[in-house]
Amino acid sequence: MPQRVDFSFDGVPLTGWAGDNLAAALMQAGTRRLRDSPRAGQARGAFCLMGSCQECIVWVDGARREACRTTLHAGMAIRSGTIADVAV
Ligand code: FES
Repeated sequence: MPQRVDFSFDGVPLTGWAGDNLAAALMQAGTRRLRDSPRAGQARGAFCLMGSCQECIVWVDGARREACRTTLHAGMAIRSGTIADVAV
């Protein structure tokens, strides 16, 4: 049975379902802005949800990850991506 777990995004405490992918967990928690675009600095978030677009790049416990392909666990500390995080 799924369990509610605590995690954080840019220091903001959130809760989600263990086993969800991070993109889904963040959307469910009301967080859609995961990083800024390299050129215009516009808000970017999950788009394809299958690992193709790289729009969901975030830092998870210090490692660069695709939010849509990373599983939520209790206590994860997630930080928004930055321009330098995305390979061009
Ligand atoms: S939403 Fe496209 S790679 Fe994650």
